[in-house]
Amino acid sequence: MASHTKHIVLLVGSTGKTGSSIVRALAKLPEKYVIKALVRRSSMDKPIVQEFRNLGVEIVPGDLAGDTQESLETKLNNVDIVINATIPVEDGNQNKLFLAAKNASVKRVVPSDFGPSAPPGAMKYQDTKLKIRQFIIENEIPYTFIQAGWLTSLLFPQSHSVVGNSPMGKQFYGSGKVKTAYTALERVGEFVARIIGDPRTLNQTVQAYDGEATLEEVWTIASKVTGENFDDYTRVKIEFLCRCFVCLLSADFTNVSFYSFSSRRKISSLPSEMDRIFLPLFSSSITGRR
Ligand SMILES: NC(=O)c1ccc[n+]([C@@H]2O[C@H](COP(=O)([O-])OP(=O)(O)OC[C@H]3O[C@@H](n4cnc5c(N)ncnc54)[C@H](OP(=O)(O)O)[C@@H]3O)[C@@H](O)[C@H]2O)c1
Repeated sequence: MASHTKHIVLLVGSTGKTGSSIVRALAKLPEKYVIKALVRRSSMDKPIVQEFRNLGVEIVPGDLAGDTQESLETKLNNVDIVINATIPVEDGNQNKLFLAAKNASVKRVVPSDFGPSAPPGAMKYQDTKLKIRQFIIENEIPYTFIQAGWLTSLLFPQSHSVVGNSPMGKQFYGSGKVKTAYTALERVGEFVARIIGDPRTLNQTVQAYDGEATLEEVWTIASKVTGENFDDYTRVKIEFLCRCFVCLLSADFTNVSFYSFSSRRKISSLPSEMDRIFLPLFSSSITGRR
């Protein structure tokens, strides 16, 4: 087991949206964290990897799919916390990582959750995440499961000026009156930095979010800010949603009523810069929390 005062954190999926938010937040706390990032050789030349090096991150070449459990174990030698922020489509890869973490005496693993929760059987993608949690518990691996709210940037409608064939952000599902938790992408990293350094969160599930809002409230704000009227955007039928998810996530929708507008996930998308434009207004007008 590693013996030092700082936590050595190894992040898998650091170059992605969630992973980079986590790296940037951890890097702001050099007194608490030493950061390592497992990066695929094919991604070594990405500018973000250079940015991480400049932040003092140690880049460890590796591939969750290509590495064996044994090679991962070697890379986890002396690591305290492992965070995975890849897209968890194949649980075998994560399971291998967490078994390696157990053998390397890692003190805490964080699987790739970082999204809203849903009960088993509601969404195949979420079921994959729940299965990984189960695997971790059954193997007695110390963990923290971190759930986030829906990313703020995914809640807003797209401007009418956005052209293209995609209906994303121009259609919606449900009444628009159900509250959901929201989280800004940059806040995911900040929350993770707080959560993994807190001994109370060991072997716990933590929900991290900035506030709660309904789709109707969010779209009203978008209207106020942009001056656009989104009334012409259409409500979609459940069959359409199923087709979207089946195609994009191999989802098997047996119950889509679990959160009425988080199911807009694949039909609403704005660049994450929208977080910066909308979030201050959004937070103060809806909850006053940030
Ligand atoms: N709360 C929300 O609304 C919300 C929104 C989006 C995502 N999420 C969740 O956040 C998590 C991460 O999603 P994301 O959208 O941030 O992911 P992403 O941007 O697609 O990034 C995926 C990351 O995984 C890495 N990766 C892929 N395959 C790998 C492999 N075999 N070995 C090592 N690294 C590999 C990629 O590295 P390369 O640079 O090499 O490609 C990249 O860094 C997921 O659990 C997702 O469901 C939540």
